[in-house]
Amino acid sequence: MILSAQDLVWRAGRRAIVDRVSLDVTPGEFLGLVGPNGSGKTSLIAMLAGLRAPVSGTVTLAGTLLNRMKRRDLARQIALVEQQAETAERLTAREAVALGRTPHLSALSPWSSRDEAIVDKAMADVDMAHLASRSWQTLSGGERQRLHIARALAQEPRILILDEPTNHLDVEHQIGLLDLVRSQDITVIAALHDLNHAAMFCDRIAVMQAGRLVALGKPADVLTSRRLAEVFKVDASVEIDAAGSCFIRYRHPVAVPRARHAAS
Ligand SMILES: Nc1ncnc2c1ncn2[C@@H]1O[C@H](COP(=O)(O)OP(=O)(O)O)[C@@H](O)[C@H]1O
Ligand SMILES: [Mg+2]
Repeated sequence: MILSAQDLVWRAGRRAIVDRVSLDVTPGEFLGLVGPNGSGKTSLIAMLAGLRAPVSGTVTLAGTLLNRMKRRDLARQIALVEQQAETAERLTAREAVALGRTPHLSALSPWSSRDEAIVDKAMADVDMAHLASRSWQTLSGGERQRLHIARALAQEPRILILDEPTNHLDVEHQIGLLDLVRSQDITVIAALHDLNHAAMFCDRIAVMQAGRLVALGKPADVLTSRRLAEVFKVDASVEIDAAGSCFIRYRHPVAVPRARHAAS
């Protein structure tokens, strides 16, 4: 099921926030979306998820325009975890995850033991089963974030779209989460800030700069030292190992040695 964006434009006033972006997301791939703050990642994601209509251009899923699809049909195909995801506070952790089953329920297919099992698995997958009965407002930012992911997994989408999913997470849960979504048999699109994590988990990386898609390809082809300088304004060396994996090493931004170093 190919998600395809053609010439997407989104504007705020006269300013182009997303500027003629085209890309095809291949079924089963993990596509990373990287770029500095304000480069348009969240705005692009909102259009790819069918949450926001483009000013011009189209997004199609298996050839059908997203904005022609019914909400419920779309929700069975695409799950989105927003950057600032919110949930009604008066729920338990488990109830928040169970909301993910909503698009699959109807008068003809009411809540069943299968839904129960899917929710249990999603809770366990994000390492939150032990907090199932805790009320939402008592959970930490990282715990809430993991539940948002669990809710999206319980939705059983074909395409999972995540906006900075590792924010608030400790490093174990950052890597655990990326590994978990990668191991699912689904397409994943994720806006990520940690470029080493992007290199480690993504099949392809799309680089956004000032609303434009400036590069799209394999991590080692896209994350060059020159591009890191041009797009992210950082001085870094990129090492590619025998397996073709790339590792970024950042250097201090100021070349002038500090006095205490100069003295030693
Ligand atoms: N609804 C809006 N109205 C005005 N400006 C917006 C709106 N949404 C986003 N922007 C601006 O668009 C730019 C891109 O934002 P965003 O898509 O959130 O970027 P990113 O996710 O890469 O940080 C930012 O400068 C942001 O302030
Ligand atoms: Mg954003």
